[in-house]
Amino acid sequence: MRAKAAVLYEAGTPLRIEEVEVLPPQRGEVQVRMYAGGVCHSDLHVMKGDLYMPTPVILGHEGSGIVEQVGEGVTSVQPGDHVIPIWRVSCGACEYCTGGRPALCDVGTQVRVTGLMPDGTTRFRINGTPVRHFAGVSTFSQLSTMPEAAVLKIPQDFPLDKAALLGCGVITGVGAVVNAAKVRMGSSVAVFGCGGIGLNAIQGARIVGALTIIGVDVVDRKLEYARKLGATHTINAAQQDPVEAIKELTGGKGVDYAFEAIGLPKTIEQAYAATRKMGLCVVIGVTRADVRVGINANEMVYAEKTLMGSLYGSSRPKIDLLKLIDMYRSGKLLLDELLTRTYPLEQINEAYAALERGEVARSLVLA
Ligand SMILES: NC(=O)c1ccc[n+]([C@@H]2O[C@H](COP(=O)([O-])OP(=O)(O)OC[C@H]3O[C@@H](n4cnc5c(N)ncnc54)[C@H](O)[C@@H]3O)[C@@H](O)[C@H]2O)c1
Ligand SMILES: [Zn+2]
Ligand SMILES: [Zn+2]
Repeated sequence: MRAKAAVLYEAGTPLRIEEVEVLPPQRGEVQVRMYAGGVCHSDLHVMKGDLYMPTPVILGHEGSGIVEQVGEGVTSVQPGDHVIPIWRVSCGACEYCTGGRPALCDVGTQVRVTGLMPDGTTRFRINGTPVRHFAGVSTFSQLSTMPEAAVLKIPQDFPLDKAALLGCGVITGVGAVVNAAKVRMGSSVAVFGCGGIGLNAIQGARIVGALTIIGVDVVDRKLEYARKLGATHTINAAQQDPVEAIKELTGGKGVDYAFEAIGLPKTIEQAYAATRKMGLCVVIGVTRADVRVGINANEMVYAEKTLMGSLYGSSRPKIDLLKLIDMYRSGKLLLDELLTRTYPLEQINEAYAALERGEVARSLVLA
């Protein structure tokens, strides 16, 4: 079948809208008619060349859609089912999968790094030339063929635009707070970067009952979003030193938990420095591959600090995404406040330019 898709031919060049051939699902695969793809910064890292990815490739890893057809042996979904793509494919059998940490599965890493299906081939063609998948799901295509393991059936009556936000931004941000840091009620939290991921770390902190929630960004509009999602205080790091400002707000001590949701060495070091004794700093932001951060080793020892990373909200996506749907329905999880704009697929480069200008909390491109 033919479909329109946004194709990256080379890092540093704009995405091009192309007619692509989308091959039918093979055994154990599903073809999804995408409803929307989420505009996440991780795709932008690839577009800029900060994250390596073989090209040509169809990006997009956050999104929602409707199952178009299924390959042999598929049992968890059927045509017409509404689904959220899961951007880390998992084998279901390794120690990470069976240990409840499917995002760490080596099969998912291989699919992400090669841009190929687990069998080493691709389901996209342009004039006969193979085009790679992104994270096995390529949500910036009207049609996308993906492994069955990469789709989660969701309730038919759940709005597909809200569903599209859950698959990366929401689960990554909320999950870093709930699953990785296990933030305790009454504690203090700072979140560096109030974009799609950081805003969800803020709302995760609000949901679990953190008392002081400090949003840090360099764009005032982002700080307004932060307050809507649950920040009790905000700091514009372009106007004042965020570490000093956080210390001031916490009686000179620093916060119990800091989250970095940007992906810069400087802000990772700031987030670590902003934690108090026995504090925990969680890095969610993705940096360029060659980046190193400087941590004072003795400070780590004498203050008993912890520095950790969190991938995909350290979550079990197939369980946690359904919980997030119920959380939205109960009014506890805010999604309407997150969805700032939608764009047609043709305007995807403009959607990413707006993300870079700091204009949106989260936006979607509609297939
Ligand atoms: N760990 C994971 O599983 C995972 C998943 C998805 C995304 N990510 C990564 O998380 C990061 C954030 O993604 P996003 O989609 O929210 O991006 P985004 O562009 O929406 O948000 C980044 C925010 O950081 C702010 N910022 C930039 N420089 C700053 C500075 N010096 N101090 C304070 N704020 C600053 C920007 O104004 C923006 O609001 C990216 O690196 C992305 O690749 C990680
Ligand atoms: Zn596995
Ligand atoms: Zn993402």
